Amino acid sequence: MAETSLPLVLVDDPLPDLVLELLQGRVHCLPWNALQRNGLTQADAIYTYGHPMVDGQLLDRLTGIRVISNHGVGVDHIELAEATRRGIPVGNTPLVLDGATADMGFALLLAAARRLIRGDHFARSPEFLHYDPAYLVGREVHGQTIGIVGLGRNGLQVARRASGFDMQILYHNRRPRTDLPESLRASYCELDCLLERSDFVVICVPLSKQTERLIDRERLAKMKSTAILVNIARGAVVDTDALTEAVMSRRIDAVALDVTDPEPLPRDHPLLQSEHLVIAPHLGSATEQTRRAMAELSIDNLLRGLNGQPLVHQAN
Ligand code: DGY
Repeated sequence: MAETSLPLVLVDDPLPDLVLELLQGRVHCLPWNALQRNGLTQADAIYTYGHPMVDGQLLDRLTGIRVISNHGVGVDHIELAEATRRGIPVGNTPLVLDGATADMGFALLLAAARRLIRGDHFARSPEFLHYDPAYLVGREVHGQTIGIVGLGRNGLQVARRASGFDMQILYHNRRPRTDLPESLRASYCELDCLLERSDFVVICVPLSKQTERLIDRERLAKMKSTAILVNIARGAVVDTDALTEAVMSRRIDAVALDVTDPEPLPRDHPLLQSEHLVIAPHLGSATEQTRRAMAELSIDNLLRGLNGQPLVHQAN
């Protein structure tokens, strides 16, 4: 290990230049594989960029950890209860990425409804020889009913976009929200009722023990056969086998995913063969502006934690 007076931070590399520049001269980075390579036991902090598992076993081994900082809002790869039990704050980056993630949700929703990916392939292909009004007829978006599962920060941003599309907005949460802006008309629904009534179901709920496989075979069966499911949260909120069955049998019209379980799906997974799937490789917050904001906020959380100051955003 390098001799250094800088705090030692275990990082899951490779980190992008943007993050490395912000860390430069402030901390000394220890690569994740040092855990195996040299049996690392000493570090002051953990910085998670991808989604490496941080569990009780790791924290038992690295007893000097003062803060865990995550580049992103979802912290389902970190055992929060184990961190809390040891008095370790876990930082994350909400607020700065809600807009970009909701934009991606709408991009996926529109792409699936209007058959955009199939249209793109067709428009490039030698088969496109004349305009045919009967080709790739999709589903209307404006004026339809959207059901948002999880009206937190991301869900709220999705609702604002839906409102711009004159959609009727339903949402399901642990409890109805009483703090919604007056300009936003959104009705609370039990989950099954939301699934039965929505033309588009958008999953925005964080992954937890309570939400794992929340959308299972029975729940998928409640959706309209014309409905489209969009997931911009975490893949494991939906049962992948049941979803694959529902899409392949056209039990639902289409699915649009930014996240999957597992992620990535095995390259030969049947769902990837379906033309009724639109998929992105977890790009929800991937814009230049949002990535910069996430990097700055996560490093701010890291340095604050190392200095014993309150984090800007703490997840536990
Ligand atoms: C998030 O912020 O949770 C994104 O999914 C990236 O991890």
